[in-house]
Amino acid sequence: MAGSTKNGVAPRVMVGVCGGVAAYKAAELVRALQERGADVRVAMTRAAEEFVRPLTFSSLTGHRTITNMWSGWGDEGGPPTGLDERGQIEHISEAQAADAVVVAPATAHVLAKMAHGLADDFLSTMLLATTAPAIVAPAMNVNMWNHAATQANVRVLRERGVVFVEPESGYLACGMTGSGRLASVEAIAQAVMDALAVAAHESKRDLADETVLVTAGGTREAIDPVRYVGNRSSGKMGYAIAAVARRRVARVILVSAPTALQPPEGCAFVPVTTAEEMRVAVMEHLPEATVVVGAAAVADFRMAKVSAEKLRRKGALHLELEPTEDIVRGVVKARGAGTLVIAFAAEMDADVELAREKMRTKGADAIVLNDVSRGGIGFDSERNAAVFITAERAVEIPENTKRAVAERILDEVLGLRAGNHTSRETKVR
Ligand code: PMT
Repeated sequence: MAGSTKNGVAPRVMVGVCGGVAAYKAAELVRALQERGADVRVAMTRAAEEFVRPLTFSSLTGHRTITNMWSGWGDEGGPPTGLDERGQIEHISEAQAADAVVVAPATAHVLAKMAHGLADDFLSTMLLATTAPAIVAPAMNVNMWNHAATQANVRVLRERGVVFVEPESGYLACGMTGSGRLASVEAIAQAVMDALAVAAHESKRDLADETVLVTAGGTREAIDPVRYVGNRSSGKMGYAIAAVARRRVARVILVSAPTALQPPEGCAFVPVTTAEEMRVAVMEHLPEATVVVGAAAVADFRMAKVSAEKLRRKGALHLELEPTEDIVRGVVKARGAGTLVIAFAAEMDADVELAREKMRTKGADAIVLNDVSRGGIGFDSERNAAVFITAERAVEIPENTKRAVAERILDEVLGLRAGNHTSRETKVR
C-alpha cells in the first residue's frame, strides 16, 4: 500500500456503483479499500439506487454519495447546481481528484457507454473526464457477458488500458449458471492497489541516462531438428522490466528467447533461440549497456551433439548434455566501469543467503530472488514477488503484477547506482 500513496497522502479512490444485484457487495469493497489505506468516495447510477441506498455508502465513507449530475451543493429547494462544496463543477473536480476509479459492479450498459464515450449521468461523465486509471469489475447475466456486443466493448476498453477484474463463473442471481458473477472483493481491491502502484510510477523519467540490456524468456536447446530442451519461462518478467525501463526513458535492448509476447514499443529487440545465441547477442551489445538485467531462464545444459536427423522411437533414449556458458558471469568479466549487473535467481525457496551466494559466484552487483515454488507467481504467471539482494541488504518486493515488481526492481537498481542500496521501504536482514 505504501507504494501507492502520494507523498504520504491516502490515495483517493472513486467507486462507481451500477444497477445490479451485486451492488450490495460494493459496500464491502469500500471497506476493503479503506483497510488498504484509501480515501474512498462513491458515485451511484440511478439504477444502483434501486438496489442499495446512498446512505449506506455515505455512512461508510463519511462523504456524500454522488447520485446525480445536477444535485451538488445548491440551496435547499433551489435549482440544481452540479457544483461541489467549493463551487467547482463536481464531475470535473471529482475526475481530477481521483487517483483511481473502480466500477463495481459494472453492468453491460456502463461498459457500452464507456466504450462509446457516452456521458449522460455523473458516473459516465466523470469516467470520460478522468485521466486516473480505470478498473472495472463486470457482473451480469452470462448471455449478456458473452454477447458479441459486450465482448467487443470489453476489447475496446482493454485496448485503451482499462483494467478488467474478470467476472467469476457460478450460480447467477438470474438463476442461470456461467460466467458473470462479480469477482471477489479481495481481487477487485487488489487490482485497484496494483493500478495505483503502477500509476505512482507513471511520471518517472529517472532512467534517462541509462542503457538497460534485459534478457528474457526461456532459451531452447535443440535435441534434433524438431525437438528441444526448454523451460516454462514466458518472458513476462523480462518484458515487464524492458517496458518499464523504456517508459522511464532508458534506452532499452531486449535480448529475448522465443515467447508469445509483443516486444515493448521503443526497445531495440534482439531475438535469439539458444543459450549460446543469447550469450553472443548480450556480449555484442554489452559495450552500450550501463545496466544488464538477466531475467531470462537460460538453459544450464545443451546437447553434447545435436542429431541431424529426427530421432526414431526405439526404447529408452539417453541424452548426453554438456554445460552452457554462464552469460552473467561472462558479462561481469567483460563489463565496462560503472555497468551494473543484476542477475535473477529462480529458487524453490526464499533462502536469501543461498541466493546471495549465487550472486557472489556470478560476481553480480545484485540478484533478484523469486521463489518459483509458490503458486500464482514466477514462471508463466502475471504476478511475481521477489527479494532484491545486494552484498549488504535484502529488500522485499511484495507480490504484485510483474509490471509493478519491475518498477520496484528498477527503483532498487537506481538506489544501487546512487550508492544508496535501499528504497524507503527497505527491510534489512
Ligand atoms: O519469464 P516468466 O514466465 O515471466 O518467469 C520469470 C522468471 C521466473 C523466469 C524470472 O523471474 C527468473 O527467475 N529468471 C531467472 C531464471 C533462471 O534461470 O534462474 P537461475 O537461478 O537458474 O539463473 C540465475 C541467473 O543466471 C539468471 O539471471 C540467469 O539469467 C543467469 N544464467 C543462467 C544460466 C546461464 N547459462 N547463464 C546465465 O546467465
